Amino acid sequence: MSISVAILAAGAGTRMKSSLPKVLHKICGKEMLFYSIDEALKISDDIHIVLFHQHEKIKEAIQKSFGDSKITFHIQNHLSYPGTGGALMNGADQNPISTKYDKVLVLNGDMPLVKEKELLKLISPASAVSMSVLTLENPTGYGRVIIEDKKVTSIVEEKDAQEATKSICIVNAGVYVFERHILETYLPKLNNHNNQKEYYLTDIIGLCAKDNKEVMPVFVNEKDFMGVNSKSQLAYAESIMLQDLRNKAMDQGVIMHLPETIYLESEVVFEGECEIENGVCIKGKSKIINSHIKAHTVIENSCIKDSDIGPMAHIRPGCQISNTHIGNFVELKASILNGVKAGHLSYLGDCSIDEGSNIGAGVITCNYDGKKKHKTIIGKNVFVGSDTQLIAPINIASNVLIGSGTTMTKDAKEGDLITSRVKQENKAGGFYRFFGYSKESSQSND
Ligand code: UD1
Ligand code: CA
Repeated sequence: MSISVAILAAGAGTRMKSSLPKVLHKICGKEMLFYSIDEALKISDDIHIVLFHQHEKIKEAIQKSFGDSKITFHIQNHLSYPGTGGALMNGADQNPISTKYDKVLVLNGDMPLVKEKELLKLISPASAVSMSVLTLENPTGYGRVIIEDKKVTSIVEEKDAQEATKSICIVNAGVYVFERHILETYLPKLNNHNNQKEYYLTDIIGLCAKDNKEVMPVFVNEKDFMGVNSKSQLAYAESIMLQDLRNKAMDQGVIMHLPETIYLESEVVFEGECEIENGVCIKGKSKIINSHIKAHTVIENSCIKDSDIGPMAHIRPGCQISNTHIGNFVELKASILNGVKAGHLSYLGDCSIDEGSNIGAGVITCNYDGKKKHKTIIGKNVFVGSDTQLIAPINIASNVLIGSGTTMTKDAKEGDLITSRVKQENKAGGFYRFFGYSKESSQSND
């Protein structure tokens, strides 16, 4: 489509009270600015991102995820021209930043819920300016929109509003489509005569209306257009996104118990028939295929196929698990398990375990020697007795039986039985000698 997109992300984000730039705060595992970039890239091949505060950090994060082919970065001349209007100015003067196309879609970088479909509704061939408006029960923090005869006549920022204006519940959602000539005409006319001493982009709207240029309001939903300025709005936006992610999964056939307690990140994928119990947390690029994830399990960046996991298991990044049963209090990290049972209380890190093997309670792969991480390889049909420590690097062939309580330091060959126990000694009467009384007196005390 022949439209350029400008995303404003140069603000200080003071209300977040954080050293992390506001637009890099994450919602469902992804930086909030990245959601708008994703949507912008669906609409345009000419994306402009305006930065100032911590611009190096933000630019680096964007380039790492998106490359920079279709994205042009601008550093706002924030000292001379602070404010959302200043953001669209070419660093040196009040002319607009140069864009490839004659129409420019402008959006704030703090609107993580915005979707391509909703943005397209604002692109009207008929008017020189259109803007998104929201009707809110609580309009606090937003610019209030004055509408007369179905046309916007001005926007009043909360910090400049009289009490009567503050009671208006129609607010500016922060997305606009401008014909380029409108920006060329009106950006140079902006001033900073307001309580924030900023150049407001929103003042262009009033200037247009005065010159009888129509500004078309497009009513949109809070669900798609809410802005994030504080940590509580961050949490609220995340709760809206989570609801969407869960509904999408359930529509696809996933069973969810108490869905409102399940946390998912935006890149999690479900395939086939899955069941997810309450309190489960699935993060990163995890893929869950035909599996049952039981209550309070945490899965990060891992693939689970035809398996049942938990309750209360912790699958850390880099695991590939198939045809496997993982029980409670089992922690896995960067491990490949195929056709395995690990029912209770184990740490399995940097290992691969093959079909038919059974991992007893309390088995630990000692993968870290204080300097380096090492691998544990376990073949097929290996029975690892409870409370065994596997000191990595170690290689255990198929068909091996390891007695419980073994500390394994050497590789095992096919067919081996391995034990490393200290011989048990039973000392008759030792109990009474230790506590200093006799069997007779202990019986009379009962
Ligand atoms: C802005 C609007 C307000 C609207 C609200 C919607 C203005 C003056 N006000 O207010 O009418 O209701 O969004 O969410 O536009 N930014 C820059 N450079 C700056 C200042 C801000 O690039 O100098 C960026 C910020 O990084 C942010 C966006 O612009 O992504 C909006 O700035 P913010 O300070 O959040 O504006 P609001 O007060 O929310
Ligand atoms: Ca905002």
